[in-house]
Amino acid sequence: MKKLMEIMAEELSSAFEKAGYNPEYGKVTVSNRPDLCEFQCNGAMAGAKAYKKAPFMIADDVVAYLKDSSVFSKAEVVKPGFINLNVKGDFLGEYMRKMAEDETFSVNRTEEPKTIMIDYGGPNVAKPLHVGHLRSAIIGESIKRIGRYVGHRVIGDVHLGDWGLQMGLIITELKHRKPELVYFDDSYQGEYPAEAPFTIGELEEIYPCASARSKEDEAYRDEALEATHLLQQGKPGYMALWNHIMQVSVTDLKRNYDNLKVSFDLWKKESDAQPYIPDMVRNMKDQGYAYEDQGALVVDVKEEGDTKEIPPCMLLKSDGASLYTTTDLATIVERMKLYHPDEILYVVDKRQELHFIQVFRCARKTGLVEKDTKLSFLGFGTMNGKDGKPFKTREGGVMRLENLIADIDEEMYRKIVENRSVRDKDARETAEIVGLSAIKYGDLSNQATKDYIFDVDRFTSFEGNTGPYILYTIVRIKSILSRYAREGGTMEDGAILAPANDSQKNLMLELTKFGSTVETAFEEKAPHKICAYIYEVSNAFNSFYHETKILSEEDPARKKSFLKLLELTRDILETAIDLLGFSAPERM
Ligand code: ARG
Repeated sequence: MKKLMEIMAEELSSAFEKAGYNPEYGKVTVSNRPDLCEFQCNGAMAGAKAYKKAPFMIADDVVAYLKDSSVFSKAEVVKPGFINLNVKGDFLGEYMRKMAEDETFSVNRTEEPKTIMIDYGGPNVAKPLHVGHLRSAIIGESIKRIGRYVGHRVIGDVHLGDWGLQMGLIITELKHRKPELVYFDDSYQGEYPAEAPFTIGELEEIYPCASARSKEDEAYRDEALEATHLLQQGKPGYMALWNHIMQVSVTDLKRNYDNLKVSFDLWKKESDAQPYIPDMVRNMKDQGYAYEDQGALVVDVKEEGDTKEIPPCMLLKSDGASLYTTTDLATIVERMKLYHPDEILYVVDKRQELHFIQVFRCARKTGLVEKDTKLSFLGFGTMNGKDGKPFKTREGGVMRLENLIADIDEEMYRKIVENRSVRDKDARETAEIVGLSAIKYGDLSNQATKDYIFDVDRFTSFEGNTGPYILYTIVRIKSILSRYAREGGTMEDGAILAPANDSQKNLMLELTKFGSTVETAFEEKAPHKICAYIYEVSNAFNSFYHETKILSEEDPARKKSFLKLLELTRDILETAIDLLGFSAPERM
């Protein structure tokens, strides 16, 4: 379906052409003087030089052909040569009816669906999910949903960190605590127990303990390094422990991501890429890309025109161990082989940017990807506390995601109960739904690359640019519609008509921007544009609501037109928040 902007530009272009000018001048923009008009065209100003004519003369010629336009109620020349435009109410009403019938509310699905893999989440097994992983999950999930909505095949991969020193640390700490376990008995030949020798609670306590100790105790650290090494070589007892650790933590991670309404198509992990490393490294050597430098194996990735030094990409350390870079390169090999993506997008903390520059350049240079495979990095900023420093608990520790969510839900619950008397169970459920909107909208409404301040008071407020405000607006619409239905009203024979007042027209004009907003949000990987859009729509709706008697309107056709517009507004807002990864309750 055509965008309103396109239709208007076509009208203008055709008028320019009929008046004997180049149709290219017929571009239309939103008015920068909303007090004077809704849209404007500056083409006559742009054309003045080429035609050696005063701009207002060109504009006069052009508007003569807009007199009978079915699109514009006003096309007026103002000096020195702007064309001020207003849209005709009937035309806008008809456009709303078409939007309501369009499956995607005017978003044009792509004609060339691409396979896009998104690498997001990136939690590390056995370490609790903390707020650092929150942004990746929230932003990645939203981009995945937007990508699908515009018609691409999007594959989300959690890419678990399961292959590093943390595994060796846990094994070492376990060995110190329970040396009698069969996993540590080298002569043991039997089957290993099916049950893990620890719970998730114990596991989460073991890791920080081991990590702290390894920083003070060198022998302990060496032991952990050795355990990591043995694990990576496949020592059976350690592999069995690794399986237990994986099982226990993945169950817990899935529960956490479920609560966040974040889901992954693939639960792949760093260790899955390990089998690809030997061949990949050999090829890089054989083709002359990889060379030894002080015992390590590296590939140069600096390029002409670099303004800062890009160090070589390291493949193997001098002891032959692989690195984070090696794993990411081998993961690219695996992804190309199994999924043939047109693009791989990484949603990771922007402090890892250099790592990804090295990985992308190396992958391209050594031919791991095809020429037109896109490798993109969306580096997000840090989530800070009110003090402007990375978010911490009151005690100064790393904030666990679960606790953060519980805090927000509690705050939401308090506000909801304060607001009205809902049954307790309802209020708890509602608080969870609204709490999620507070967290996600609070994050997504900022440009992803920027740092932002996680402000519980502001995010949970029902007023201002917040998730709860958007949900409050949706719930308000739903309650009007259900009251109408309860009173026996039907929507039969109803249709959206020309706007009855300015605030209704303004709401309609805001709604028309849905298609271009979603398309741009996808192209620019910018969910914050959808947030800005629904904030404007909500404001426009609330002004309309305050200025218009809806249910007490006496003219039945007009009343149904209002209610139909309410339905459309609700559907568009609910579609938009679904793209952001949250939903609205029935009541609040
Ligand atoms: N596990 C990593 C971390 O916590 C993030 C992984 C990001 N993805 C990747 N392919 N490197 O920092």
